[in-house]
Amino acid sequence: MTHIAIIGFGVVGGGITEVIRLNKKAILRATGDEINVKYILDLRDFPDSPYADRVVHDFSVILNDPEVKIVCETMGGVNPAFDYSMQALRAGKSVVTSNKELVANRGVELMAEAKKNGVSYMFEASAGGGIPEIRSLRTSFGGDTVSEIDGILNGTTNYILTKMKNEGADFADVLKEAQKLGYAEANPAADVDGIDAQRKIVILTAIVTNQLASCDKVYTETMTKITPADMDAAARWGGTVKLLGSSRIDHENGKAAIYVCPTFVPNSCPIAHVDDVYNGIRVNSPVTNDYMLYGRGAGRMPTAGAVVSDVVSILSGVGAKELAMDWEHAEDDFVLPFGDISFAYYVRISTDSVDETLEKARLVFGEIEVLAGSPAGCVEFITAKIAEKDANAAFEGGALGEVQSRIRLM
Ligand code: NDP
Ligand code: HSE
Repeated sequence: MTHIAIIGFGVVGGGITEVIRLNKKAILRATGDEINVKYILDLRDFPDSPYADRVVHDFSVILNDPEVKIVCETMGGVNPAFDYSMQALRAGKSVVTSNKELVANRGVELMAEAKKNGVSYMFEASAGGGIPEIRSLRTSFGGDTVSEIDGILNGTTNYILTKMKNEGADFADVLKEAQKLGYAEANPAADVDGIDAQRKIVILTAIVTNQLASCDKVYTETMTKITPADMDAAARWGGTVKLLGSSRIDHENGKAAIYVCPTFVPNSCPIAHVDDVYNGIRVNSPVTNDYMLYGRGAGRMPTAGAVVSDVVSILSGVGAKELAMDWEHAEDDFVLPFGDISFAYYVRISTDSVDETLEKARLVFGEIEVLAGSPAGCVEFITAKIAEKDANAAFEGGALGEVQSRIRLM
């Protein structure tokens, strides 16, 4: 019997006890052992829970119990989660987490501390919820180098966009639904403003480069400005709008372009068809070429399942060793300046003189593709690829008129 503790008994933490109960036989088969949740640390008591007698409010109870071998940290936030995790690792306990904010900010220190103490720090649940992307990216590309990642990395916002597109649902109503379903962050601004996806693309990039970029170096744009008119335009163009986290990695020069923004995705790309709370991660490498990971990106059971898969890996004697990661904090110039990256753009401009506006647009952008079926009083077009800073300069000063929308193409 292996004793574990759960710190943070909310959506994910609560799911861990359920997964362990439901999959008792499978866990026994995989590890030859049973898992006992000895302690649950939370701010609240849970008098109606079958685990009520395991609830403690003092972390030192867990820390000082040598029987506890693994701590599952599902409380979220950087502190006190960081302090508790470091203390547990120093005490020779492995730590498993779903907390991407912590991994994206302090993963280097936590992994180093685990290594020093001969234990594991694992975080399969921290990016992509139930998708086993960390093992996949680390173990299946052994002789290859991942050079491109594009992912729908946030379940809440994909759920919102899907409902807006298919049902014309109201943004605020769907966000409330996503909160009720346990998908959203404690502060859902992290979801809708792209911060959660930013943390996840930083983690995914670190998984394939061992370089943990500073989150504040990653250009991040909210999805709250996506309108039904944008969705309609994307459909006429032959695709859809998704909030993507993207990374373009230049292994040779040790640089990466990393960004999160609403993006027009063509229907020919499988990511365009990833809907609801599902996440989809497209990976490209020179040898394997295009590769796609798909699964539930948020929610109690899929996320808890990913946490338990790490626990099982540790119990099986594999643990973090298998992943052979050695992260360091990236130098400031690891992330390429966003202004230097080139995109093609979808643009919608208010105008009473379509021909005149298009003429001006051609002068600025050269060749453009005019989109048919625009709403009255607007003109819409797709530009050729242009550096972000040059596109910004073109739009500055309002020479082209009132720009209603500008969205990058994948
Ligand atoms: P919840 O808010 O549902 O759960 C967090 C729990 O931790 C709450 O019960 C909270 O108590 C408790 N807690 C917070 N601070 C402390 C503290 N200092 N000491 C003890 N307990 C504390 O969040 P989730 O379960 O949804 O998320 C947990 C983590 O997993 C987060 O990092 C999140 O980003 C991540 N995650 C979540 C997913 C999801 O689908 N929900 C998916 C993937 C990752 P109280 O409620 O009283 O504040
Ligand atoms: N709030 C996150 C999401 C949870 O919606 O994707 C999973 O990381």
